[in-house]
Amino acid sequence: MSRHLKALIGPSILNADLSKLHEESQKLLDNGADYLHLDVMDGHFVPNLTFGHPVVKCLRGKIKEAFFETHMMVSKPEQWIAPMADAGVNQYTFHIEPVDNVADVCRKIKEHGMKVGVAIKPGTPVSEVEKYINIADMVLIMTVEPGFGGQKFMEDQMEKVKYLRENYPLLDIEVDGGVGPSTINCCAKAGANWIVSGTAVIGAADQSATIKLLRDTVHNVINKN
Ligand code: DX5
Ligand code: ZN
Repeated sequence: MSRHLKALIGPSILNADLSKLHEESQKLLDNGADYLHLDVMDGHFVPNLTFGHPVVKCLRGKIKEAFFETHMMVSKPEQWIAPMADAGVNQYTFHIEPVDNVADVCRKIKEHGMKVGVAIKPGTPVSEVEKYINIADMVLIMTVEPGFGGQKFMEDQMEKVKYLRENYPLLDIEVDGGVGPSTINCCAKAGANWIVSGTAVIGAADQSATIKLLRDTVHNVINKN
């Protein structure tokens, strides 16, 4: 069954030189990135600020084809659905923690023509997000506290990934935070198939080889099962 799953690598440009957002993003795509993971922070849900829909829209103006996922680390995800859809976002991944009516937000995202990702922080039990699997396209299990790039991978979060993979063989499961060549095996074995990697890819001497290594590792595990 799991042969239908794809191994996809989505670099995060959070720790890149953001004054060169377009060049850095294009470079990642030229080096084999399957999608771009764009980290949006509001300084409220997380103690950091990045960029919002105006910047994403400008990036879309330069990069027409790539799949854009916005990782919405914001307190009011419903507020940014329409502007992000207008900016050309393909998938809107949001944290369920601050949201009262998650199903409603999922529905609105779909109405705006985007795919839906539901995300949880390390302290949130997997049962909280499991409720929404039938109305979402992907689940994001954070492997660091959201807010900053370059943090240490939290291996204990793999329990959640394993649980989801065992129970939902065809679910797209994304991991994000501290993922790179030294932690990818752990993620792949647990069952993650969408891989976000920031510092490890941005800082790699050979981006293309690093992206390929990450994808091959996941691909091999998926095809073994
Ligand atoms: C953390 C972000 C991540 C992260 C990825 O809040 O959501 O996307 O920055 O970067 P690394 O791989 O450096 O942890
Ligand atoms: Zn992220």
